[in-house]
Amino acid sequence: EFYLQLFHRLCNISYREAMEETKIPQRLDVSSLRGIMLPQSTYENWETIWSFQAQPDDLFIATYPKAGTTWMQEIVDMIIHGGDKEICQRAPIHLRQPFIEMKRPFMPSGLELAEAMLPPRILKTHLPVQLVPPSIWEKDCKIIYVARNAKDNLVSYYHFQQMNRILPHPGTWPEYFEKFLAGEVPWGPWHDHVKGWWEAREHQRILYLFYEDMKKDPAHEIQKVMQFLEKDLGEKVIEEIVGHTSFQAMKENPMTNYCSHPCFDHSISPFIRKGTVGDWKTHFTVAQNERFDEDYRKTMKGTSLTFCNEL
Ligand code: A3P
Repeated sequence: EFYLQLFHRLCNISYREAMEETKIPQRLDVSSLRGIMLPQSTYENWETIWSFQAQPDDLFIATYPKAGTTWMQEIVDMIIHGGDKEICQRAPIHLRQPFIEMKRPFMPSGLELAEAMLPPRILKTHLPVQLVPPSIWEKDCKIIYVARNAKDNLVSYYHFQQMNRILPHPGTWPEYFEKFLAGEVPWGPWHDHVKGWWEAREHQRILYLFYEDMKKDPAHEIQKVMQFLEKDLGEKVIEEIVGHTSFQAMKENPMTNYCSHPCFDHSISPFIRKGTVGDWKTHFTVAQNERFDEDYRKTMKGTSLTFCNEL
């Protein structure tokens, strides 16, 4: 109720009316801000986003798009609420945990939602480190970063840009493949993003996790998140969280699968799509794989951050 009323107050229409709104806008363009492509609405509201005022008990979930953000968001909500599934059903995930740099049609902006919310807030961002609003560093907020291997991340992003009606159309697979390598996709190049956040661990409170580890041993990664959040919930609750945040459970859960989101066309591709490691093998040609590996060696040279690309 709180979230639905909040939505109504911020938007002047009810959530149901907003979801039923059929006048979905044309795909929006992206604009380059300090060399990073951002959705038009983020670009236009940049000054407000940059001056966002964080609070010390804000928790951020930061990712490159399609690295497992929603999965981590639901895990964190479950941990914060002691494994209470009912509470986690209170509203769709994008209302529970505002996306700070986003303004979607017919919806309050992430900042409006965040500002109307009681602490402690859980907030989502896809911004690369150099574009993170300074107040988040100044207030020393805790941040959980999830990274995913570049090849699967690329495949997932391709499908997402097809079904997301407010991002530019990805074009054909070979075209998108080239755009991704060139970093000409929303939120910029994958390699700078994952490396930038990796280096930021040295001076900020960042828990850096990997999608592939979450797939392999979700209970173990959930333990790490619990420790980071200074919560001790016990084995039984961890098992509950593993079950509630499994791929199948999240795919069937209307509060996590974005089924009512007006910008997504699930008939093109569901938001919770495949959830596997190694899906790139069903998309990459041999030549694309070689080209990718060659580029990867150059862009990831010299970093201590490693991913297994042959998963
Ligand atoms: P695929 O497109 O490869 O299926 P984000 O939330 O950052 O947008 O990431 C979406 C990706 O995470 C999608 O990947 C989605 O299927 C996957 N995902 C979401 N929930 C998941 C879960 N519980 N387990 C595994 N993968 C999940």
